[in-house]
Amino acid sequence: MQTFEELRLASLSCVACPLAERRTNVVFGEGNPQSPLVLVGEGPGEQEDNTGRPFVGRAGQLLDKALADNGLDREKVYITNTVKCRAADWSTGKPQNRPPTPEETEACRRWLIPQLGSIAPKVILCIGAPSAKNLIKRNFQITKERGLYFPCEFAKTAIATLHPSYILRQQNVNRDDGGYSLLVADIAKAWAAAVRLAERL
Ligand code: URA
Ligand code: SF4
Repeated sequence: MQTFEELRLASLSCVACPLAERRTNVVFGEGNPQSPLVLVGEGPGEQEDNTGRPFVGRAGQLLDKALADNGLDREKVYITNTVKCRAADWSTGKPQNRPPTPEETEACRRWLIPQLGSIAPKVILCIGAPSAKNLIKRNFQITKERGLYFPCEFAKTAIATLHPSYILRQQNVNRDDGGYSLLVADIAKAWAAAVRLAERL
């Protein structure tokens, strides 16, 4: 049987979809693979592509703050993404991040599903709509359905929350917290459920 580390090493040379062509690094994920809570984002951006680490850019810093506001950090949870390579539009010279296509998302399930299978988390927290559509249901509506428990094939339950990139954009537009307090509350809810489920035999 393949270990978690063998799975990670195998992913680093994946060329199963076109995102392989322009990537610098495959971003497999990091944190505690024994954690009862896994966070699944959309996909790597520029800084993540450069470093090979998930959520290290501006959105990642906001996520770290929301984890810290819950007394959590990256060693207490596991963090990964729907796709492991950066999705961007390169047609204008300066690459613009874009959501992964359905084909790219489908291709990258070859890593995400065994990864989740190996961690066997109690709770999955989907960060943003693409992740929720991939792991909860195709027609997931993030603004209406975030913060609610849903059945999930890969954990006891799944919850979705707003993406920190979305929150940063909203903060610029509306000059309020942009939904940051919802992100903090959703992480609190997901962590409490994960701990509760882990304590049950
Ligand atoms: N946004 C994501 O969804 N994932 C990352 O790793 C970074 C930014
Ligand atoms: Fe492979 Fe996923 Fe990268 Fe596509 S995005 S090349 S499937 S690791």
